[in-house]
Amino acid sequence: MKKIYLVYISLSGNTQSFVRRLTSYLQFQSDMEVEEVHVKDLVKEDIPFYALDAPCVAFLPTYLEGGNGVDNGDTEILTNPLGDFIAHAGNDQRCLGVVGFGNRNFNHQYCLTAKQYSQRFGFPVLDEVELRGLNNDLERVGKKILGLLENE
Ligand SMILES: Cc1cc2nc3c(=O)[nH]c(=O)nc-3n(C[C@H](O)[C@H](O)[C@H](O)COP(=O)(O)O)c2cc1C
Repeated sequence: MKKIYLVYISLSGNTQSFVRRLTSYLQFQSDMEVEEVHVKDLVKEDIPFYALDAPCVAFLPTYLEGGNGVDNGDTEILTNPLGDFIAHAGNDQRCLGVVGFGNRNFNHQYCLTAKQYSQRFGFPVLDEVELRGLNNDLERVGKKILGLLENE
């Protein structure tokens, strides 16, 4: 049976809500095993980072400290543990891409951290989702992931 890890970090619950609904969607649409990894919980519970044994997709909100994302304000402040987990033990090689989360009010900074991860690790930004995401976001992202796994 195919397996996918949904690796994420969520501070105010939006990304977590989306990942939980996406897990249900993927389990309903396919017989694959879906495992969620909330990196914030690993850090909080002092669980050491580990190597993933199946493909993953990362889900990442943007929290930048001020600025406009063009000539300043591109420093991430709160979500860095997700990058540490992806960089750990070759997990980046397992990562099919990142889905960015943000708020369009931030204009040029919208989902900027996901774009930075794409550059840093060399995997694509699969999609961008505002706040908790609507049902059409869920279906679109879910279908993309199912399509990617067909080629695995
Ligand atoms: C202090 C702060 C800074 C933020 N900066 C950005 C930003 O630069 N770009 C963006 O698209 N969204 C930004 N957001 C919006 C969050 O990314 C958005 O609310 C996201 O859904 C939060 O995900 P979470 O609830 O899973 O933590 C910011 C939110 C806060 C509270």
